Amino acid sequence: MRKLAATSAGALMAFAASVSAASADKLTLYCSAQEDWCQLMARSFEDATGIDVDMTRKSSGETFAQVRAEASNPKGDVWWGGTGDPHLQAAEEGLTMEYMSPMRDQLHDWAISQAESAGNKTIGIYSGALGYGYNTDLLAANNLPEPACWKDLLKPEYKGHVQMANPNSSGTAYTTLASMVQIFGEDDGFEFMKGLHKNINQYTKSGSAPIKAAGRGENTIGIVFMHDAVKQAVSGFPVKVVAPCEGTGYEIGSMSIIDGARNEEEAKKFYDWALSADAQNLALQVNAFQVPSNKGAQTSDKAPDMSTIKLIDYDFAKYGSSDERKRLLQKWDEDVSTLPQ
Ligand code: G6P
Repeated sequence: MRKLAATSAGALMAFAASVSAASADKLTLYCSAQEDWCQLMARSFEDATGIDVDMTRKSSGETFAQVRAEASNPKGDVWWGGTGDPHLQAAEEGLTMEYMSPMRDQLHDWAISQAESAGNKTIGIYSGALGYGYNTDLLAANNLPEPACWKDLLKPEYKGHVQMANPNSSGTAYTTLASMVQIFGEDDGFEFMKGLHKNINQYTKSGSAPIKAAGRGENTIGIVFMHDAVKQAVSGFPVKVVAPCEGTGYEIGSMSIIDGARNEEEAKKFYDWALSADAQNLALQVNAFQVPSNKGAQTSDKAPDMSTIKLIDYDFAKYGSSDERKRLLQKWDEDVSTLPQ
């Protein structure tokens, strides 16, 4: 009897130890970059550290909404990837925590500026320019002209041929909305979005879905980050990438640690690792052609050349602020999305 009691006490202690080891060695990762890259980051971090990663991919705006909804009882530890604007909004709303990584001196200035503008509650991990891509076969089959500018997308002959994501869920689409407001001014920017609405066949949830659909031949023109269109072209689909003639906006894809993270130590380990050149080089294995924030990481020669693209001076502080993002999204909901097509 005594032996049995000793055995079960020992087994219980071993069980307790394994439970606490398991609960200490895990990480809940919210990921807003492309699914295959999210998977690769999660599995590679597990291999490098032995820490189990529970990863969920959701679009940038959706993840922001989830982190806010969970604020009183946070379930996520790190939010990696997705456009910077909602990360900045999360920082402003106190949903993410300040962290100064020892890896910062390896990063480009634009990644550090992103951190500094948010009290070090987020940081830049990649950047990429907005544009669009089109399926060359479908364009020819429908006798459509080759578009080269944003304004070209308003032509009536493109009706039903253009797809973009919904700016509430997608950071790509919010970047599109904020870029049009910055390129054309607020009134003309909204007139542009209203004109575009007439040609849109579907507002998708995820930012890159419109160009994946174009790759599959289910949509003609997709408004996306140019690197997402390059990925389709490199994969062998008949997709041509366009840097619009008026100039374009860009993203600083970001990473933040969620305030109140249950696995804060693991979150910091992931954060430091994700800023390393080796971790950032993983992007090339999944044809993720963003510009990496670590100065020592490689940029593919297939990546859009940012130095040849006419980039606007995107005002991240303004368009990533809570008031402005809410205001623009509400205005788009009320004035654009409800219009008949
Ligand atoms: C794609 C792009 C990323 C971008 C992300 C935003 O995955 O490759 O560079 O950050 O979209 O996703 P979302 O679904 O929020 O537009």
